[in-house]
Amino acid sequence: MLKEFVQFYTTPSSRLARKMGFLHEAIAMSARHQRCQQSWQPHFEQCQAAIRQAVAECTSFRHIVVLGAGSLNDIPLSFLSQTFASVTLVDMVFLKPARRQAAEYDNVTLLEADVSGCLAKVEQGGSVVEPPSLPGIEPEKVDCVVSLNLATQLPLIPVRWLMDRFGLSEAKADAFGKALIQAHLAYLNRFGGVKCLIADREMREYDRSGRLTDQLDPAWDVPLPAYELAWDWEVIPFGESSENAELCQKNRVGVSIWPSREGAV
Ligand SMILES: C[S@@+](CC[C@H](N)C(=O)[O-])C[C@H]1O[C@@H](n2cnc3c(N)ncnc32)[C@H](O)[C@@H]1O
Repeated sequence: MLKEFVQFYTTPSSRLARKMGFLHEAIAMSARHQRCQQSWQPHFEQCQAAIRQAVAECTSFRHIVVLGAGSLNDIPLSFLSQTFASVTLVDMVFLKPARRQAAEYDNVTLLEADVSGCLAKVEQGGSVVEPPSLPGIEPEKVDCVVSLNLATQLPLIPVRWLMDRFGLSEAKADAFGKALIQAHLAYLNRFGGVKCLIADREMREYDRSGRLTDQLDPAWDVPLPAYELAWDWEVIPFGESSENAELCQKNRVGVSIWPSREGAV
């Protein structure tokens, strides 16, 4: 607890990331990672392998952009640094271990920015989706863009913010959540090179007897591109949930890569 408190006050981060809860979430996620290393490690390794697979589809290697880079645990950073002239990692928040890791490479840049492009307006109660414009990123000159466990996360904080502080109705919250995910997919398609979407496709909850107790679409029923690779990530093992220690949550994570060199999608 003390460690997390110190982390909150000593991590460099934007006013918005602090105020809206991104920093708090990143610290909580890092603490959960410490506790769940065993069940999270295979997921990180699968993500890294998926990114390598996307890179294998590239025909030039000027610039790779990873959206939702966060802890960097799911990124084969040394490989990307050696393969591309320039690597940009984007997230609202980078904790110190991620900053230290990125600093080991001359061609790796951390960009603290809002990938949804609308958080500044959400802070004031706005719920209009606008295309993001990330400084230093020219989509047509990017040879590979990776959306890394981000797409289904994009609505969570802004929708909660608008419902709690501005009384956004459930119907409007639902429409806004969907619009954020759709705008993210459209944004990926503005990039000229290979696109790689790594995202939760299904969330399932089980009790200790193995019975399925709940199941939902983490993409708010927005159709995501078909996936060619998938695995289960035990994101909340038994004993970890503050709401019910008798349940565990497994997410089905899927990877879509397009266009393939054969011209699919
Ligand atoms: C599930 S985490 C995955 C992060 C990272 N790939 C990892 O495993 O550590 C989702 C990430 O998306 C980031 N994020 C959420 N909304 C964002 C936004 N609007 N702009 C930039 N990053 C955002 C969060 O800060 C968080 O690091």
